[in-house]
Amino acid sequence: MKKYFATTPIYYVNDVPHIGHTYTTVAADVITRYWKQKTYDARLLTGTDEHGAKIAEAAKKHSKKPKQYADEISDKFKEAWKSLNIDYVRFIRTTDEDHIRIAQDFLQKLYDRGAIDPKPRLYKGLYCVGHEKFMSKEELVNGLCPDHQTKPIEHSEENYYLKLSNYTQQLEEVISTDKLKIRPISRKNEILGKLKQGVEDISISRANLEWGIQLPFDKSHTSYVWIEALINYYTYGSQNGVWPADLHLVGKDILWFHTIIWGTMLLAIGEGLPKEVFAHGFFTINGQKMSKTIGNVISPQDLVAKYGVDGARYVLLAAFPFGEDGDFSWDALNRIYNADLANGLGNLVARIYRLFTNHTFNHKLKSATGENNIRVESYKSLIEDLQFSVALKIIRKEIKDLDIEINNAKPWELGTNEQKAFLQRIVPRILLIADLLQPFLPQTAEKILKQFSGQVKSSAPLFPRI
Ligand code: ME8
Ligand code: MG
Repeated sequence: MKKYFATTPIYYVNDVPHIGHTYTTVAADVITRYWKQKTYDARLLTGTDEHGAKIAEAAKKHSKKPKQYADEISDKFKEAWKSLNIDYVRFIRTTDEDHIRIAQDFLQKLYDRGAIDPKPRLYKGLYCVGHEKFMSKEELVNGLCPDHQTKPIEHSEENYYLKLSNYTQQLEEVISTDKLKIRPISRKNEILGKLKQGVEDISISRANLEWGIQLPFDKSHTSYVWIEALINYYTYGSQNGVWPADLHLVGKDILWFHTIIWGTMLLAIGEGLPKEVFAHGFFTINGQKMSKTIGNVISPQDLVAKYGVDGARYVLLAAFPFGEDGDFSWDALNRIYNADLANGLGNLVARIYRLFTNHTFNHKLKSATGENNIRVESYKSLIEDLQFSVALKIIRKEIKDLDIEINNAKPWELGTNEQKAFLQRIVPRILLIADLLQPFLPQTAEKILKQFSGQVKSSAPLFPRI
């Protein structure tokens, strides 16, 4: 059995899940379900990132111990993914015992192979806790982190260094040849450009932060949170025979970590590189950055309450091209839901199902195969390239064409035999659409299948209009 192993970022537990985390996770679930449907042993890994200063501070603010706080918030992520029908193989937490052990083994290997300097040295820099990263003066605006509007901390301590600069040539080679494939192409070029400018060695330890994983070669330091967090993919993959990963799906904000830093770490210990890192774009809400202060944060629950599970999954990925930046607004999402799902798919199924119940069929009607069907072929290759919204356009066109065919044939005016013959031609094409949409709409696809196999009688609309 061929395997497919995809991952989402592991999200910080400083705060509850929102539509940004939902976006990435739904996309990762769709692509994993697509490969499952093709009978691959396809697995999706997701989870939470629980160590570091950011989490320690958030817990303190809530007067809780970091682990207790992390337990509570990671449960919220699990609930969210359950409500969106995310079919993950494991929910990994960086506080899990096996992760701590494997992260320490990994760090020890880096040390033994000389990728980490043998002795700590003074490291000075401006640290943004919100990003959990050092920022250069040029990245700051009026001395503040432009994303968090906070003043970075002046960090100065004895730290261990990861010798990134020793690996730039090797990295450039694997990235430019797509041995480590970065997509979209524009992002690959961005990363190659940064590599050409040269990268500096980074600090990978903390002398004054308890809430982290101890360095195995010096217990007085904890690991820089990003270094051990990246290892989560390997914690699962190496123990379950699926390393290297086929896809790391991430937002563009964390592409640097997933290519330059993670790539270096894997090269340094001689492990396989992920086959692809895909960075999707960032979205705004009504043109504004999503933030608590503005009060425009949308939760996964809000989405599911409005559009149902499948509707929520669909509208997120249909709204704008995956990989590009975009904007969400309730108006725009409502329009997509009504046009594509209520009036499109839902209405098509309802009008044909009404006629279907007039007849009895000796043989169960089966899905059309889709073989040698150019539309189906291009739909599939678009999905494999993660071009979700473009792929969905093809389905929209197919539904539209079916509607036109039905309007022209006026099957409701036909005699019994002709009507039945018409349904025998049309229903398989609807079943094919259900099949193709299954990764996006797992519950709806099943409902459609059951309706047209006579297993359930239903008159409730699949997608009530909003
Ligand atoms: O970065 N648009 O976790 P995080 C699109 N713990 N995607 C968005 C988004 C938006 N407006 N806002 C968030 C971390 N995301 C680390 C990861 S991995 C080893 C460690 C999504 O909780 C997007 O996927 O800050 C982004 O990369 C991720 O949430 C950041 O999640
Ligand atoms: Mg973040």
